Formats: sequence, structure tokens, C-alpha cells
Amino acid sequence: MNLTSSVARRIRFLALAMLVLVGCRPATLELDGRAYPLFDLYSPEGSPDRYHASARGFMIATDAPEASRAGAAMYAAGGNIVDAAVAVSFAISVVRPQSTGLGGGGFLLLHLGDENQTLAFDFRERAPLAATRDLYQDRSGNVDARSSLFGSRAVAVPGTVAGLVELHERFGSLPLDVVLEPARKLAAEGFPMYADLAGAIAQAEDDMDTGMRAVFLPDGRPPEVGEQFLQPDLALTIERIARAGRDGFYEGPVAQALLDYMAATGGLITRADLDEYEVRSGPALVGDYNGYRIATMPPPSSGVFILNMLAMLARTNPRETYARDKAEYYHMLIEVFRRGYQDRARYGGDPLFVDVPVEHLLSNEYISGRLAAIDHRHATPSESLDGVGAVAVESRETTHFSILDRNGNAIASTQSVNYRLGARVMIPGTGVVLNDTMDDFSAAPGVPNVYGLVGGEANAIAGGKTPLSSMSPTIVFERENPRQVRMVLGAPGGSRIITSIIETIINDIEMDMHAYASVARARLHHQYLPDRVFFERGAMGPGVRALLEERGHRLELVPVIGAKVFLVRRDGERLIGASDPRGDGQPLGGDLP
Ligand code: DON
Repeated sequence: MNLTSSVARRIRFLALAMLVLVGCRPATLELDGRAYPLFDLYSPEGSPDRYHASARGFMIATDAPEASRAGAAMYAAGGNIVDAAVAVSFAISVVRPQSTGLGGGGFLLLHLGDENQTLAFDFRERAPLAATRDLYQDRSGNVDARSSLFGSRAVAVPGTVAGLVELHERFGSLPLDVVLEPARKLAAEGFPMYADLAGAIAQAEDDMDTGMRAVFLPDGRPPEVGEQFLQPDLALTIERIARAGRDGFYEGPVAQALLDYMAATGGLITRADLDEYEVRSGPALVGDYNGYRIATMPPPSSGVFILNMLAMLARTNPRETYARDKAEYYHMLIEVFRRGYQDRARYGGDPLFVDVPVEHLLSNEYISGRLAAIDHRHATPSESLDGVGAVAVESRETTHFSILDRNGNAIASTQSVNYRLGARVMIPGTGVVLNDTMDDFSAAPGVPNVYGLVGGEANAIAGGKTPLSSMSPTIVFERENPRQVRMVLGAPGGSRIITSIIETIINDIEMDMHAYASVARARLHHQYLPDRVFFERGAMGPGVRALLEERGHRLELVPVIGAKVFLVRRDGERLIGASDPRGDGQPLGGDLP
């Protein structure tokens, strides 16, 4: 046998084998020296690089580059974190009217580094005083789903302007007109139409009133992607607010136009509703995950259910369980989600109207009892807990942004007009899209809202009441130094907000993932009803899926879990921003003067 040719053959074989192996190696994304398999992450169309950034002075993560720039401009002008947050809020109201706006409401957490104090601001919409529990029911008690979603009767009293102006008066440092200038300019001079907004306009077109059609269908058709989109009426409204503060919206021509419109169309909002609108503020709700302090929004937000689910998960030892038995890990995650959302449906509501048992939900005794009732081998059918069936609809609206600066100040805020383009009506002549947040109430016990969420007595409609919300801005502190912010986060996405925040926190703390990877990682979702596990490709491998199905879980692959997380994470001296690749954002940071 010819020795040289056999050696040559072997070398050729080895070289070929190496090539095949290299070719088959899964594609990865390298972040801070760690390789993440791309399959596990949600893949944006372009490069993932645009969705993360790092800086030393401040970092802003939002769902629109223009909004991140508006916030950064305030820091550059010598402003503080509140100036930046108010500038971001107004700017995003202009560029994402499908998600949020001056006719909506929101929640905001402000952590003051020097004082080590976290404050919660609730400027969510309230039910008009004339609203009654059966507002959306006919004589036989049947719910008309459209009437709580579209038209002037779906509109709750807006809170965004009152909230942002009050926040700015108490904590801002630059003049209000300077802070609102980027938003005014974006409305007056326009910005290029982009696919998500164009799509929302096309989907909402048939339900829009004439005032809204004039703005969003300027030539009788939705603007083309790339066309400059102008909102001159909105620019004037912003100018009025820049001059007169809260009165620029709740008094004068804007208020009058709103009241006339309500009177003409059978809407419920009256002068008294505008006069009585109050921003609520107080301490944030604080909980713990494995020694990490977590501050979140108190009820009527769902922060308490996030803390309740995290407290259950902490006791399942996620890091060790994931490494040992992935099916067991996901089984427990799903069962915890099921129970957390069941509690949300039972107990969630406005604490000024109903008793939300926050202490009980977070007590050791309750957490232990709930965990002990989980069967490790079988899924618990949701019908065996109490409740009724529901179907969920996807909407990718609402918005969240997170800001963190070198001085340890942090802001997390989620704001909304609720479902895509709100009630699809505008305050005539003002460019202001009105919310349809009345749909967040339970129209009747057990009847699902647009996100498939059911609620009971605690979330029944009443005049002046605030509807239960999934929006849950959250701040996580370092375990070793609980005064130092580790991570600021939150998300839009209706019912999916809650699971997305929990999964991102687990990815960060238990899986040691880079900020971008913890946001981009494929997710799963269960919300008690419907009794189904929705998952993105890459969330779980086929082996794990088969084991979960054997245990009785019903799995459903979805192209995207429609929630988008925006977070800023401290890493030593660096502040890392991540905007969800499922969205349109771009984080932006810089140095402090
Ligand atoms: O407050 C809530 O729970 C809803 N109004 C949030 C709506 C939302 O996130 C829509 N986005 N997909």
C-alpha cells in the first residue's frame, strides 16, 4: 500500500470533516466575549447592532430613534433625567401615535440616586364620572366588544399631559418650552413614515372618524413609507402646553374642543372630569428576587403580580433547574405564570376602589402555598382554577422607555393610548388621538378584553376609577449594593408585558446574559386563559417541547410574542442600553457634562 497516498487521503478526509463541522456550527452573536446562538434570539431584519449601545454618562432606551435623540438633547443642554424623560415622552407621542399620545395615560417610576428613593407616578386614564359598570352591555347583559374599543364612548379621561407637566414642575430643571421643542419640531416639520405606523394606519383606517382621517390619510390614502408625515395641529397643541402647562390641555381651546366633541358624539367626558383629574404619586412597590431588591409600580399596575411570580420563581432555583432539566424549568415557569395571571384576574383593580391584597400576595405563606399546589408532572388545567374562556388578540402598541445615568438616577415609564391608534377618534383640530383605555376594565365579569384578559369584580367599571393595567415599569437593584440600580426596564404588549419583564429579569440574573441578549432571547407566554403556551421559535428545543406536551401543556408557535422590552443595565462603569429588536427603537447614550 502506498503510505503517502493513504496519509494524503486521511489528511483530505480530516480537512473535509473540519470544513463540515465549521459549516454546521450554529451562527452566533458575539457580545462582550460570549457567543449567543442566533437561533435562541429573535432576529431583526437588519443588524442587531443598532439595538444596543453603551455609554458612561447616561443611556436612554426607547422605541424610536427620534425620541432617544430628544432625551439626549436635554442632557446635552444641561438638563436632568426628568427633562430627558419628558422630552422623550412628548417626542414619542408624535412619532408613535399608534402607541401613545397626549390623549392617553401612563405610569412612571423615578429613582433619585442621591436620596435612594423610588417614586411612582400614576397618570393613567380614569373612567369618566358618568361611567357605569354595565356601560358596554346591552339589556340582556351581552357585551358589545366594539363599543369599549372604538368611538367617543370608549375614551377615558386622559392623564399624560397632567402627569408629565407635574413631573416636570416638581423635578425638571430646563424650561418646559425647551423640553417640548423636539416634539413640537417633529410634529411641525414631520418625519419619514415607517412601516409599523403605516401598517397601523391601514389596519385602523375603516374605524377612523373624519378628523383622524384628515391627519392620517392626508391624500385620502395612508402615506407611503418614506414620505414625510406632518402633524401641524399637534404641533400647535404642543405649543399651547409649552406655554400654559397643564392648562394648555385641560383648559382653553383644546379642552373645549374635547368637551364639544364628547357632547356631539355621545361621549361621557365632561368639564368635571377634566377639573378633577389628579395625578397620583407615592412610593414605588418594593419586592425581592433572591436578594435583589425590585421596585415596581403599585396597583392598578400589574407590578404586584410580577413580584408575586418572581417570588415563586426564586424558590424554584431557576439557574440550577435550567442546567439540570429544561423541561422541569419551563414547566415551573408556565405554572407560575398561570397562577400569577389567575391572581391578576381575581384581585387586580384600582386600590382606591377595591382592596388589592398586596401584602397577602407577597407573603411567604401565600407564595409557599401556591408553589406547593403545583404538580411537577402534570400541567394544571386553567379551568380547574376558577374562571372562563378567553381569546387573545395581538397588538404591538403602547410604548416604554428606560433611562439611567451615572449619578444613579433612573426612570422607567410605560405610556399608552391602549389599542392601536386608541379609540380611532381625535379631539377635532388638535391632532390629539384619544385613548380607548375603557377596554382595560372588565366589561362584565369573565368577559375577556382585547388582550384576552379576564377580570372580575375588582376591575368592574365605576366613575372616576382607573382600569387595571399590565403596564409595569420596573427597576432592579444590585444584590451587593441595594442602593445601586442594576437594571431599568419595562415593555408595551398588553398581557404579554408581564411575562416579558419576568423572563428578561431571569435572563439577566440567572442566565448572566448580556443586556441585548436578555431582551432578544426568544420568549414564551402563558396568561392563565386561554390555557395555552405561546412561544417564539427558539424559545425551547423540540425535545423540551415534546416533554411539555407529555405533561399536558398545549403549545402554540407564534411568529412574535408582541411585547417589546426597553432596558438599561449598569455594568461597572458602563451603561448598556437595549431596545427590543422586535421594535423600531435605538438606544442612545452619552457623557454627562
Ligand atoms: O394598560 C394596559 O394593560 C394596556 N392598555 C396596555 C396596552 C398595550 O400594551 C398594547 N400593546 N400591545
